[in-house]
Amino acid sequence: MKNYNIAILSGDGIGPEIMKEAIKVLKVVESLSKVTFNLTEADFGANAYFKSGHSFPEETKKICTSSDAILKGPVGLGYEETQKIPVDQQPERGAILPLRKFLNTYANIRPVYLPKALKSFSPLKAEIIKEGIDIVIVRELVGGLYFGNKEVGLTKSGKRYVKETLEYDEDQIKQILLVAFNIAMKRKKVLHNIHKSNVLKSSVLWNEILEEVSIQFPEVEVKHQLVDSAATFLCLNPTMFDVMVMENMFGDILSDQAGGILGSLGLMPSACLSDDIAYYEPSHGSAPDIAGKNMANPYSMIGSVAMMLEYSFGMVEESKKVWQAMETVFIQGYSTPDLSSSAEDFIILPTNEFGDKVVEILKNLH
Ligand code: NAD
Ligand code: IPM
Ligand code: MN
Repeated sequence: MKNYNIAILSGDGIGPEIMKEAIKVLKVVESLSKVTFNLTEADFGANAYFKSGHSFPEETKKICTSSDAILKGPVGLGYEETQKIPVDQQPERGAILPLRKFLNTYANIRPVYLPKALKSFSPLKAEIIKEGIDIVIVRELVGGLYFGNKEVGLTKSGKRYVKETLEYDEDQIKQILLVAFNIAMKRKKVLHNIHKSNVLKSSVLWNEILEEVSIQFPEVEVKHQLVDSAATFLCLNPTMFDVMVMENMFGDILSDQAGGILGSLGLMPSACLSDDIAYYEPSHGSAPDIAGKNMANPYSMIGSVAMMLEYSFGMVEESKKVWQAMETVFIQGYSTPDLSSSAEDFIILPTNEFGDKVVEILKNLH
C-alpha cells in the first residue's frame, strides 16, 4: 500500500470552496485504489497574513518540504482589501512567488482543453473550434521580470522611478525548453515557440538556446510565433497550436487568454513542476467577485488533482478517470454558472453539487 503526504493550501476567496470539492474527489480516488493520501492543511496567502503576519509562514514551508506533493488553491484579495497588507506581504509577492522560488517549480503546465461536445461554452464560433481545442501551454515559472532585481527610488531631479529587470541564463532557458520538447514528443511533435525576438534580447538568447536544444529532438517541428500575433491566432485559429512554450510573463497573459477562449478561467488547472517536488493549482485567481457564493467552478481545482495523480504519483489511469468524470458531468447536461447562462440547455449546478456529480460518476467508472 502506497502512502502519499499531500500539503493542502486552500488559499483565499473561492480557494476553500473549490478545494473542498477537490478533496472529495481525492478521497474517492483513495477509496477505489491501493493508495492512502495523508492530507495536511497549511496556512497560505492573505488568510495566513491576517492570522500570523506572514503570508507564507515557516510552518507552511516545513509542511511543503515534508510532502510528496502540494495542492494549492488561489490566493489574493480584491484591490481594496489588498491595501490592508504591506506590499511585500501581499499574497502574490509574499506567498506565490516565494513558493515557486522555494520549490524551484520552473515548469508550469497549463492544459487548454475543450472537446467538441462542449463547444457552446466557448465565445468562439463553432467553425473556429472545429474538432475541439487541445493545447498545452508550457510557461517558464521562476525567471524573467517576475524575479529580476527591482528598484524603486527618486532620480537626481527628484522624479519617482522604478526599474525591474528581466533576466534569464542559458540553464534556465534550457531546462524549460527540454520540458516543452519532451511534451511535444508525446503529442503531435509540433512545438510553437512564442517569443519577442524582434525587440527583446532575452528572446534572442531564448531562440539561440532553442536551436541548440532542438538538435536533440529532430522529430519535433519547431514553429516560431511572435507573442503579439500569437495572441491573435489564439482567438482566430486556436487549433493551429498543440504545445506552446514561452517565458514567464508571456505565459501568464496568454494562459488567461486561453481560459477566455474556453469560456472561463474555471476550466484552467495547472501543474508547477521542479526536478523533485511539484505543486498543483488552478491558473486563475481567488475570484473575489464570486467568493463565498457557492458558484465557483471547481473544475480547475479538480483538474489540478488529476494532474497531481499523473505527474507526482504516476496514477495515470486514475487521473484519466477524473478527467473523464468531469467531462461526463457536462455531457450529461450539467454546467456551472461561469460557463452557461440559464437560457441555455444546461442545468446549472452550484460548486458543491458539481463536486457531488463528479464523485458519483467517478465511482461508477470503477
Ligand atoms: P481571477 O482569476 O480571480 O478572476 C477573473 C474572473 O474569472 C472573475 O470574474 C472570476 O469570477 C472568474 N473566475 C476565476 N476562476 C473562476 C472559477 N473557478 N469559477 C468561476 N469563475 C471564475 O482574477 P482577478 O480578479 O484578476 O484576481 C483576483 C485575485 O487573485 C488577485 O489578488 C490576484 O492577484 C489573484 N491571483 C492569484 C492566482 C494564484 O493564486 N495562482 C492566480 C491569479 C490571480
Ligand atoms: C498566475 C498568477 C500569478 C502569476 C500571480 C498571482 C503571482 O497570475 O499564476 O497566473 O502572475 O504568475
Ligand atoms: Mn495569471
